[in-house]
Amino acid sequence: MKAIVLNKTGGLDVLKISEIPVPEPEKDEALIKMKYAAVNYADLLCRQGLYSWAEKRPYILGLEGLGYIERLGTDVTGFNVGDRVIVGKNHGCDAEFTTIKAKHLALAPDYLNDEESASFLGSFLTAWVAMHEMARVRRGEIMLVHAGAGALGTAAIQLGRAHDMKVYGTASNPSKFKIIEDLGGTPLSYDNFDTMLMENDRPHFVLEAIGGAVFKRSFEVMAPMGRMVCVGGTGIQVNKKNPLSIIRALRSIPKRKLSEVLRPSKGFMGVHLGYIRDHPEMFTRIWPDLLRVCTENELRPIIHNSQIFPMSNVAAAHQLIHDRKNVGKVLLDVSR
Ligand SMILES: NC(=O)c1ccc[n+]([C@@H]2O[C@H](COP(=O)([O-])OP(=O)(O)OC[C@H]3O[C@@H](n4cnc5c(N)ncnc54)[C@H](OP(=O)(O)O)[C@@H]3O)[C@@H](O)[C@H]2O)c1
Repeated sequence: MKAIVLNKTGGLDVLKISEIPVPEPEKDEALIKMKYAAVNYADLLCRQGLYSWAEKRPYILGLEGLGYIERLGTDVTGFNVGDRVIVGKNHGCDAEFTTIKAKHLALAPDYLNDEESASFLGSFLTAWVAMHEMARVRRGEIMLVHAGAGALGTAAIQLGRAHDMKVYGTASNPSKFKIIEDLGGTPLSYDNFDTMLMENDRPHFVLEAIGGAVFKRSFEVMAPMGRMVCVGGTGIQVNKKNPLSIIRALRSIPKRKLSEVLRPSKGFMGVHLGYIRDHPEMFTRIWPDLLRVCTENELRPIIHNSQIFPMSNVAAAHQLIHDRKNVGKVLLDVSR
Protein backbone atom coordinates (compact mmCIF):
# COMPACT_ATOMS: atom_id res chain seq x y z
CA MET A 1 0.00 0.00 0.00
CA LYS A 2 0.98 3.65 -0.35
CA ALA A 3 1.68 5.70 2.78
CA ILE A 4 3.47 8.86 3.89
CA VAL A 5 6.20 7.33 6.01
CA LEU A 6 8.20 9.83 8.03
CA ASN A 7 11.75 8.46 7.96
CA LYS A 8 13.36 11.73 8.95
CA THR A 9 12.10 15.11 10.09
CA GLY A 10 12.58 18.36 8.22
CA GLY A 11 11.12 20.41 5.38
CA LEU A 12 8.58 19.47 2.75
CA ASP A 13 11.14 17.26 0.99
CA VAL A 14 10.83 14.62 3.74
CA LEU A 15 7.21 14.00 2.69
CA LYS A 16 7.53 11.01 0.39
CA ILE A 17 5.15 8.23 -0.58
CA SER A 18 6.46 4.80 0.35
CA GLU A 19 5.20 1.41 -0.77
CA ILE A 20 4.79 -0.80 2.31
CA PRO A 21 2.80 -3.94 3.23
CA VAL A 22 -0.85 -3.63 4.29
CA PRO A 23 -0.89 -4.01 8.12
CA GLU A 24 -2.48 -7.03 9.80
CA PRO A 25 -5.15 -6.28 12.42
CA GLU A 26 -4.64 -7.73 15.92
CA LYS A 27 -7.51 -9.62 17.55
CA ASP A 28 -9.01 -6.42 19.01
CA GLU A 29 -8.39 -4.27 15.92
CA ALA A 30 -10.02 -3.43 12.62
CA LEU A 31 -8.30 -2.99 9.29
CA ILE A 32 -9.60 0.21 7.68
CA LYS A 33 -9.47 1.08 4.00
CA MET A 34 -8.89 4.80 4.31
CA LYS A 35 -10.62 7.22 1.95
CA TYR A 36 -9.60 10.63 3.26
CA ALA A 37 -6.98 11.74 5.77
CA ALA A 38 -7.19 15.20 7.33
CA VAL A 39 -4.03 17.26 7.64
CA ASN A 40 -3.78 18.95 11.03
CA TYR A 41 -1.43 21.66 12.21
CA ALA A 42 0.07 18.94 14.43
CA ASP A 43 1.15 17.04 11.28
CA LEU A 44 3.37 19.99 10.37
CA LEU A 45 4.91 19.84 13.84
CA CYS A 46 5.42 16.07 13.49
CA ARG A 47 7.13 16.57 10.14
CA GLN A 48 9.47 19.16 11.64
CA GLY A 49 10.24 17.04 14.70
CA LEU A 50 8.51 19.53 17.00
CA TYR A 51 5.55 17.47 18.21
CA SER A 52 6.05 16.32 21.80
CA TRP A 53 3.72 13.33 21.48
CA ALA A 54 5.05 11.97 18.17
CA GLU A 55 5.78 8.28 17.63
CA LYS A 56 9.31 7.02 17.30
CA ARG A 57 10.36 7.22 13.65
CA PRO A 58 9.84 5.76 11.15
CA TYR A 59 6.07 6.10 11.35
CA ILE A 60 3.18 6.96 9.07
CA LEU A 61 1.89 10.53 9.37
CA GLY A 62 -1.75 11.41 9.87
CA LEU A 63 -3.90 11.75 12.99
CA GLU A 64 -7.41 11.35 11.62
CA GLY A 65 -9.59 10.52 8.68
CA LEU A 66 -12.48 8.53 7.28
CA GLY A 67 -12.48 4.99 6.00
CA TYR A 68 -14.43 1.76 5.63
CA ILE A 69 -13.89 -1.40 7.66
CA GLU A 70 -12.12 -3.93 5.47
CA ARG A 71 -11.54 -6.70 8.02
CA LEU A 72 -12.14 -7.31 11.72
CA GLY A 73 -9.94 -9.01 14.32
CA THR A 74 -11.48 -12.13 15.87
CA ASP A 75 -12.37 -10.45 19.19
CA VAL A 76 -14.08 -7.38 17.74
CA THR A 77 -17.80 -6.98 18.29
CA GLY A 78 -20.14 -4.08 17.56
CA PHE A 79 -18.79 -3.29 14.09
CA ASN A 80 -19.26 -4.86 10.66
CA VAL A 81 -17.14 -5.10 7.54
CA GLY A 82 -18.11 -2.16 5.32
CA ASP A 83 -18.97 0.21 8.20
CA ARG A 84 -18.12 3.86 7.51
CA VAL A 85 -15.89 4.91 10.37
CA ILE A 86 -14.10 7.94 11.75
CA VAL A 87 -10.50 7.11 12.57
CA GLY A 88 -8.52 9.02 15.19
CA LYS A 89 -4.99 7.83 15.99
CA ASN A 90 -1.63 9.09 17.13
CA HIS A 91 -0.27 8.38 13.62
CA GLY A 92 -0.95 6.25 10.57
CA CYS A 93 -3.89 7.85 8.73
CA ASP A 94 -1.96 9.12 5.68
CA ALA A 95 -2.12 5.67 4.11
CA GLU A 96 -4.37 3.47 1.98
CA PHE A 97 -4.96 1.17 4.96
CA THR A 98 -4.55 1.48 8.70
CA THR A 99 -5.28 -0.69 11.72
CA ILE A 100 -6.94 0.63 14.86
CA LYS A 101 -8.23 -0.79 18.13
CA ALA A 102 -11.98 -1.18 17.75
CA LYS A 103 -12.52 0.66 21.06
CA HIS A 104 -11.10 3.78 19.36
CA LEU A 105 -13.47 3.63 16.38
CA ALA A 106 -16.64 5.64 15.88
CA LEU A 107 -19.29 5.23 13.20
CA ALA A 108 -19.45 8.29 10.94
CA PRO A 109 -22.65 10.29 11.53
CA ASP A 110 -25.23 9.75 8.76
CA TYR A 111 -25.79 13.47 8.15
CA LEU A 112 -22.14 14.09 7.25
CA ASN A 113 -20.62 13.02 3.92
CA ASP A 114 -17.27 11.24 3.75
CA GLU A 115 -15.25 14.45 3.41
CA GLU A 116 -17.00 16.10 6.37
CA SER A 117 -16.68 12.96 8.49
CA ALA A 118 -12.94 12.85 7.82
CA SER A 119 -12.68 16.43 9.09
CA PHE A 120 -14.86 16.11 12.18
CA LEU A 121 -13.04 14.46 15.06
CA GLY A 122 -9.94 16.59 15.70
CA SER A 123 -11.70 19.91 15.51
CA PHE A 124 -15.22 19.27 16.84
CA LEU A 125 -14.27 16.92 19.66
CA THR A 126 -11.44 19.18 20.82
CA ALA A 127 -13.63 22.28 20.74
CA TRP A 128 -16.47 20.44 22.51
CA VAL A 129 -14.25 19.13 25.30
CA ALA A 130 -12.66 22.56 25.79
CA MET A 131 -16.04 24.27 25.96
CA HIS A 132 -18.33 21.82 27.69
CA GLU A 133 -16.10 19.48 29.70
CA MET A 134 -13.43 21.97 30.78
CA ALA A 135 -14.75 25.54 30.66
CA ARG A 136 -18.41 24.52 31.27
CA VAL A 137 -19.65 27.33 29.04
CA ARG A 138 -23.12 28.70 29.66
CA ARG A 139 -25.72 30.05 27.26
CA GLY A 140 -25.41 33.81 26.83
CA GLU A 141 -21.72 33.88 27.68
CA ILE A 142 -19.16 35.57 25.46
CA MET A 143 -16.43 33.52 23.85
CA LEU A 144 -13.25 34.38 22.00
CA VAL A 145 -11.78 31.86 19.56
CA HIS A 146 -8.30 32.47 18.22
CA ALA A 147 -7.50 31.38 14.65
CA GLY A 148 -11.26 31.46 14.15
CA ALA A 149 -11.09 30.61 10.45
CA GLY A 150 -8.98 27.49 10.97
CA ALA A 151 -10.18 23.92 11.31
CA LEU A 152 -10.57 24.04 15.09
CA GLY A 153 -11.74 27.67 15.06
CA THR A 154 -14.60 27.13 12.61
CA ALA A 155 -15.78 24.15 14.66
CA ALA A 156 -15.64 26.13 17.92
CA ILE A 157 -17.55 29.08 16.46
CA GLN A 158 -20.34 26.78 15.30
CA LEU A 159 -20.53 25.04 18.67
CA GLY A 160 -20.58 28.41 20.42
CA ARG A 161 -23.43 29.73 18.29
CA ALA A 162 -25.34 26.46 18.78
CA HIS A 163 -25.05 27.14 22.53
CA ASP A 164 -26.43 30.69 22.18
CA MET A 165 -23.09 32.27 22.96
CA LYS A 166 -21.83 35.55 21.60
CA VAL A 167 -18.76 34.55 19.60
CA TYR A 168 -15.70 36.54 18.57
CA GLY A 169 -12.98 35.03 16.38
CA THR A 170 -9.56 36.35 15.46
CA ALA A 171 -7.97 35.86 12.05
CA SER A 172 -5.15 37.37 10.05
CA ASN A 173 -6.95 38.69 6.97
CA PRO A 174 -10.32 39.87 5.61
CA SER A 175 -10.99 36.74 3.55
CA LYS A 176 -10.84 34.78 6.80
CA PHE A 177 -13.07 37.37 8.52
CA LYS A 178 -15.82 36.45 6.07
CA ILE A 179 -16.04 32.81 7.14
CA ILE A 180 -16.14 33.85 10.80
CA GLU A 181 -19.07 36.16 9.97
CA ASP A 182 -20.80 33.52 7.84
CA LEU A 183 -20.71 31.16 10.82
CA GLY A 184 -22.33 33.76 13.08
CA GLY A 185 -19.21 35.13 14.79
CA THR A 186 -17.74 38.61 14.90
CA PRO A 187 -14.24 38.81 13.41
CA LEU A 188 -11.44 40.65 15.16
CA SER A 189 -7.83 41.29 14.28
CA TYR A 190 -4.94 40.09 16.44
CA ASP A 191 -3.73 43.70 16.61
CA ASN A 192 -6.57 45.03 18.71
CA PHE A 193 -8.91 42.23 19.80
CA ASP A 194 -8.28 43.04 23.45
CA THR A 195 -8.96 46.77 23.18
CA MET A 196 -12.12 45.99 21.20
CA LEU A 197 -13.39 43.60 23.89
CA MET A 198 -12.17 45.36 27.05
CA GLU A 199 -14.93 47.94 27.14
CA ASN A 200 -18.14 45.91 26.91
CA ASP A 201 -17.55 42.34 25.89
CA ARG A 202 -14.88 40.75 28.05
CA PRO A 203 -15.00 37.03 27.17
CA HIS A 204 -16.02 34.39 29.70
CA PHE A 205 -14.32 31.69 27.63
CA VAL A 206 -11.22 31.85 25.45
CA LEU A 207 -10.05 29.06 23.16
CA GLU A 208 -6.34 29.76 22.88
CA ALA A 209 -4.07 28.14 20.30
CA ILE A 210 -1.49 30.83 19.57
CA GLY A 211 0.66 31.43 22.67
CA GLY A 212 3.05 34.35 23.35
CA ALA A 213 1.61 37.86 23.47
CA VAL A 214 -1.79 36.74 22.13
CA PHE A 215 -2.11 34.40 25.10
CA LYS A 216 -1.10 37.09 27.61
CA ARG A 217 -3.42 39.73 26.17
CA SER A 218 -6.27 37.23 26.03
CA PHE A 219 -5.79 36.31 29.66
CA GLU A 220 -5.82 39.99 30.61
CA VAL A 221 -9.00 40.81 28.72
CA MET A 222 -10.86 37.71 29.94
CA ALA A 223 -13.68 38.51 32.35
CA PRO A 224 -13.30 37.66 36.06
CA MET A 225 -14.43 34.04 36.52
CA GLY A 226 -13.52 33.55 32.86
CA ARG A 227 -12.00 30.25 31.72
CA MET A 228 -9.22 29.90 29.16
CA VAL A 229 -8.47 26.57 27.53
CA CYS A 230 -5.10 26.30 25.78
CA VAL A 231 -4.84 23.72 23.02
CA GLY A 232 -1.69 24.64 21.15
CA GLY A 233 0.79 27.31 20.18
CA THR A 234 0.71 28.04 16.45
CA GLY A 235 2.38 31.39 17.08
CA ILE A 236 5.40 29.71 18.69
CA GLN A 237 7.90 29.16 15.89
CA VAL A 238 11.07 27.24 16.71
CA ASN A 239 14.31 26.81 14.84
CA LYS A 240 15.97 24.00 16.77
CA LYS A 241 19.41 25.03 15.49
CA ASN A 242 19.09 28.54 16.93
CA PRO A 243 19.39 28.72 20.76
CA LEU A 244 17.81 32.18 20.83
CA SER A 245 14.77 30.90 18.97
CA ILE A 246 14.45 28.07 21.53
CA ILE A 247 14.60 30.56 24.42
CA ARG A 248 12.00 32.77 22.73
CA ALA A 249 9.77 29.75 22.12
CA LEU A 250 10.04 28.60 25.74
CA ARG A 251 9.06 32.08 26.90
CA SER A 252 6.03 32.03 24.61
CA ILE A 253 4.56 28.84 26.05
CA PRO A 254 1.42 29.79 27.98
CA LYS A 255 1.85 29.58 31.75
CA ARG A 256 0.31 31.30 34.74
CA LYS A 257 1.30 31.39 38.41
CA LEU A 258 -1.30 30.73 41.06
CA SER A 259 -1.08 34.39 42.09
CA GLU A 260 -2.04 35.40 38.55
CA VAL A 261 -5.21 33.31 38.49
CA LEU A 262 -6.19 33.53 42.16
CA ARG A 263 -6.80 37.22 42.71
CA PRO A 264 -8.60 37.92 39.38
CA SER A 265 -10.41 34.56 39.75
CA LYS A 266 -9.68 33.21 36.31
CA GLY A 267 -9.22 29.67 35.04
CA PHE A 268 -6.27 28.42 32.99
CA MET A 269 -6.69 24.95 31.52
CA GLY A 270 -5.46 22.69 28.76
CA VAL A 271 -6.93 19.96 26.57
CA HIS A 272 -5.22 17.32 24.50
CA LEU A 273 -7.33 15.12 22.28
CA GLY A 274 -4.78 12.33 22.55
CA TYR A 275 -5.67 11.97 26.21
CA ILE A 276 -9.33 11.43 25.41
CA ARG A 277 -8.39 9.02 22.63
CA ASP A 278 -6.33 7.03 25.13
CA HIS A 279 -9.28 6.88 27.53
CA PRO A 280 -12.10 5.31 25.50
CA GLU A 281 -14.47 5.41 28.50
CA MET A 282 -14.29 9.22 28.38
CA PHE A 283 -14.80 9.23 24.64
CA THR A 284 -17.83 6.92 24.97
CA ARG A 285 -19.42 9.27 27.50
CA ILE A 286 -18.73 12.50 25.57
CA TRP A 287 -19.28 11.45 21.94
CA PRO A 288 -23.11 11.00 22.01
CA ASP A 289 -23.62 14.53 23.44
CA LEU A 290 -21.40 16.05 20.77
CA LEU A 291 -23.15 14.13 18.00
CA ARG A 292 -26.61 15.08 19.27
CA VAL A 293 -25.83 18.80 19.29
CA CYS A 294 -24.08 18.67 15.91
CA THR A 295 -26.87 16.64 14.31
CA GLU A 296 -29.69 18.79 15.76
CA ASN A 297 -27.96 21.97 14.57
CA GLU A 298 -26.56 20.45 11.35
CA LEU A 299 -23.06 21.61 12.24
CA ARG A 300 -20.57 20.73 9.51
CA PRO A 301 -16.79 20.91 9.35
CA ILE A 302 -15.59 23.57 6.94
CA ILE A 303 -13.31 22.09 4.29
CA HIS A 304 -10.79 24.37 2.68
CA ASN A 305 -12.20 25.52 -0.68
CA SER A 306 -13.81 22.09 -0.96
CA GLN A 307 -10.38 21.24 -2.34
CA ILE A 308 -8.97 17.79 -1.67
CA PHE A 309 -5.29 17.16 -2.30
CA PRO A 310 -4.13 13.82 -3.69
CA MET A 311 -1.88 12.10 -1.14
CA SER A 312 0.89 12.30 -3.75
CA ASN A 313 0.74 16.08 -3.24
CA VAL A 314 0.80 16.05 0.57
CA ALA A 315 3.59 18.65 0.46
CA ALA A 316 1.18 21.20 -1.07
CA ALA A 317 -1.30 20.55 1.74
CA HIS A 318 1.42 21.16 4.36
CA GLN A 319 2.56 24.28 2.52
CA LEU A 320 -0.98 25.70 2.45
CA ILE A 321 -1.31 25.32 6.24
CA HIS A 322 2.21 26.59 6.80
CA ASP A 323 1.38 29.73 4.80
CA ARG A 324 -1.77 30.25 6.94
CA LYS A 325 -3.87 30.15 3.78
CA ASN A 326 -6.29 27.41 4.80
CA VAL A 327 -9.84 28.15 5.82
CA GLY A 328 -11.11 25.13 7.73
CA LYS A 329 -9.73 21.64 7.28
CA VAL A 330 -7.34 20.41 4.60
CA LEU A 331 -7.97 16.89 3.26
CA LEU A 332 -5.94 14.24 1.43
CA ASP A 333 -7.45 11.67 -0.90
CA VAL A 334 -5.32 8.66 -0.02
CA SER A 335 -6.24 6.76 -3.20
CA ARG A 336 -4.47 9.24 -5.49
N1 LIG B 1 -4.93 20.07 21.94
C1 LIG B 1 -5.53 19.38 20.99
O1 LIG B 1 -5.99 18.27 21.18
C2 LIG B 1 -5.68 20.03 19.64
C3 LIG B 1 -6.57 19.50 18.71
C4 LIG B 1 -6.71 20.18 17.49
C5 LIG B 1 -5.94 21.31 17.23
N2 LIG B 1 -5.07 21.75 18.18
C6 LIG B 1 -4.25 22.96 17.98
O2 LIG B 1 -5.09 24.01 17.62
C7 LIG B 1 -4.43 24.87 16.71
C8 LIG B 1 -5.25 24.97 15.45
O3 LIG B 1 -5.17 23.70 14.80
P1 LIG B 1 -5.83 23.44 13.38
O4 LIG B 1 -5.39 22.09 12.95
O5 LIG B 1 -7.26 23.76 13.46
O6 LIG B 1 -5.03 24.48 12.48
P2 LIG B 1 -5.59 25.72 11.66
O7 LIG B 1 -6.38 26.58 12.57
O8 LIG B 1 -6.32 25.18 10.50
O9 LIG B 1 -4.26 26.46 11.24
C9 LIG B 1 -3.52 27.21 12.15
C10 LIG B 1 -3.90 28.70 12.14
O10 LIG B 1 -3.27 29.33 13.24
C11 LIG B 1 -3.21 30.71 12.98
N3 LIG B 1 -1.92 31.30 13.37
C12 LIG B 1 -1.78 32.34 14.23
N4 LIG B 1 -0.50 32.66 14.37
C13 LIG B 1 0.20 31.84 13.58
C14 LIG B 1 1.59 31.71 13.27
N5 LIG B 1 2.51 32.50 13.83
N6 LIG B 1 1.95 30.74 12.39
C15 LIG B 1 1.05 29.93 11.83
N7 LIG B 1 -0.30 30.01 12.09
C16 LIG B 1 -0.71 30.96 12.95
C17 LIG B 1 -3.41 30.88 11.46
O11 LIG B 1 -4.67 31.50 11.27
P3 LIG B 1 -4.67 33.07 11.03
O12 LIG B 1 -3.82 33.29 9.80
O13 LIG B 1 -6.08 33.46 10.82
O14 LIG B 1 -4.06 33.65 12.26
C18 LIG B 1 -3.42 29.46 10.94
O15 LIG B 1 -4.22 29.34 9.80
C19 LIG B 1 -3.04 24.28 16.51
O16 LIG B 1 -2.16 24.89 17.43
C20 LIG B 1 -3.23 22.83 16.85
O17 LIG B 1 -2.05 22.19 17.23
C21 LIG B 1 -4.93 21.14 19.37
